[in-house]
Amino acid sequence: MLQKPESPIGVFDSGVGGTSIWKEIIHRLPNENTVYLADSKNAPYGEKSEQEIIAICIKNTEILLQKGVKIIVVACNTATTNAINILRDQFDIPFIGIEPAIKPAALATKTKAIGILATKGTLSSHLFHETAQKFASNISVIEQEGTGLVPLIENNLINSFETKQLLQNLLTPMVAQNIDYLVLGCSHYPYLIPEIREIIGDKVTIIDSGCAVAKQTEKILFEKNLRNNTIQKGKHYLMSNSDPKTLTHLVKDIENTVIDYVIF
Ligand code: DGL
Repeated sequence: MLQKPESPIGVFDSGVGGTSIWKEIIHRLPNENTVYLADSKNAPYGEKSEQEIIAICIKNTEILLQKGVKIIVVACNTATTNAINILRDQFDIPFIGIEPAIKPAALATKTKAIGILATKGTLSSHLFHETAQKFASNISVIEQEGTGLVPLIENNLINSFETKQLLQNLLTPMVAQNIDYLVLGCSHYPYLIPEIREIIGDKVTIIDSGCAVAKQTEKILFEKNLRNNTIQKGKHYLMSNSDPKTLTHLVKDIENTVIDYVIF
């Protein structure tokens, strides 16, 4: 397949969360066009089996390839940790994945305890265990499934009492175990940072992987001679297979966006 510099960057997630990564990409690469696929209909991926996640990721990839993308950013930790190796084997296009940022947290912790908030699908994946074993075997890694958070974000209930209550229940035991770093291992969670901060206070550092993914995307595009060298601002097409209300709300500050409801 021939990938061209002026082709868009493809990004997908189980819904609106991956826009937290997509925004980092646009910020770093403002002249690139993008296509964002929000598979909200199938959210949350984190409660699905590995086989289901793989099948969904293959379908998302095929849709993005039909849109002529030059690279695919899997803006979902659950999809990356369960399916990226298979996607790389099956498709002739570069893939960038996102994984919980265990390594920087493990290197920086002073208390020797870090917290990871991620989906069940990510925390149970082979890739996550491999990374934890490699970089954090000498510290205490407190894993917490964020079950329930993704549907609340998808339904635009970020500031709700229900969300704050759930976060309180999930985070308080981690803080009690003296963590000094909290890794957000799901691309939906950066939208909860103000609410998380209220609960954990300012002594715990929050890390997510958005910026690292944008840097890696730039690096791979450069290496493959696929950077778009135009001086024009990029155009962004977002498609959702569910009511795009939350998506529209979350991307309202980004210029040149077209949002479509599409059946897939
Ligand atoms: N946003 C995704 C992630 O980074 C998936 C959340 C879900 O659908 O469960 O893990």
